[in-house]
Amino acid sequence: MKTTVSIIKADIGSVGGHAVTHQKLLDECDNHLSIAKEEGLLTDYYITHCGDDIDMIMTHTNGVDNEEVHKLAFDTFMAGAEIAKDLKLYGAGQDLLSETFSGNIKGMGPGSAEIEFKERGADPVFAYCCDKTEPGAFNLPLFKMFADPFNTAGLVIDPTLHGGFDFEVYDVIENRKVIMSCPDEMYDLLALIGSTGRYVIKRIFRRSDGEIAAAVSTDKLNMMAGKYVGKDDPVAIVRSQSGFPAGGETSEAFAFPHLVSGWMRGSHNGPLMPVGQKDARPVRFDGPPRVIGLGFQVSNAKLIGPVDMFDDPAFDGTRQKAVEISNYMRRHGPFEPHRLPADEMEYTSLPGVLEKLEDRFEDM
Ligand code: F6R
Ligand code: MG
Ligand code: MG
Repeated sequence: MKTTVSIIKADIGSVGGHAVTHQKLLDECDNHLSIAKEEGLLTDYYITHCGDDIDMIMTHTNGVDNEEVHKLAFDTFMAGAEIAKDLKLYGAGQDLLSETFSGNIKGMGPGSAEIEFKERGADPVFAYCCDKTEPGAFNLPLFKMFADPFNTAGLVIDPTLHGGFDFEVYDVIENRKVIMSCPDEMYDLLALIGSTGRYVIKRIFRRSDGEIAAAVSTDKLNMMAGKYVGKDDPVAIVRSQSGFPAGGETSEAFAFPHLVSGWMRGSHNGPLMPVGQKDARPVRFDGPPRVIGLGFQVSNAKLIGPVDMFDDPAFDGTRQKAVEISNYMRRHGPFEPHRLPADEMEYTSLPGVLEKLEDRFEDM
């Protein structure tokens, strides 16, 4: 029998503006998922949050894109959104774009990442969950984990990884996808995924046997709603050890706080700061963007753990660097490259300003 890990996430309301979700919403999610576990739809689950996003990490044996599991997640978020409305939380129900469920959570607002695999003797699985950024934020760390020998020693010295990995890349603007192999097509892959707002790593497979290695939520909220309603605040599932990157080779990919887009009003570049669960509270200028990491063992579809991957003093230097970068970027105020280019901003006054000035512009 195969095991499925599904992370389905949404922002359904928060306290302190868009800062942190509320315990009552987490409790409501727990109520729903515990019933689903009793009834056997889920084998296990773990609920966490990164900032204002609730991440429901669920295990079961129903495969990916399972209607009942997706409906469970949708109904759970709908019920949570009602509580958020009662409490007048900020952005209550903000990620729920539809009133009724229609078969699959995709296109309805929440983000989802899912993998299905036959469990090995011991199967470590990592959940990396972000807030205040977009799915392309994972391009760099996933590339490092699965293709950069300066990050992942195993690519060079472990024969079970030496064959490399296939990357499935989505073009989220043209709605198409391509699979590229590393190390052979590394330069071509980088030519695409360096454009983080357009080309997004969706899944990674081990080349030697096609085994799934990683999956990312790529549900582009702005595209789905027809207008820019929010950065997606993505999650990634990463398999590890014995033929995959070691746990520490997955977390090491976040030791460099690279610049990602999101942060204040989804319109600024800033460093991705890896934090323990207790620090998943982005409040400085609504950020800086955060990522948490949770390490589990998956055992007969049960979740053993987690280990809070970034609750580790060895990441203090990364966080300090992220603070320095934040100070530096903030000094630019409304100027690029802190502020995003006009076409990638979630908020813009530019059309109004241009309209107002229309009569005053003269040809040169
Ligand atoms: C970014 C984010 C926040 C909000 C900001 C303004 O993804 O969620 O930075 O954009 O707090 O929020 P509104 O427009 O709701 O006042
Ligand atoms: Mg919010
Ligand atoms: Mg968020």
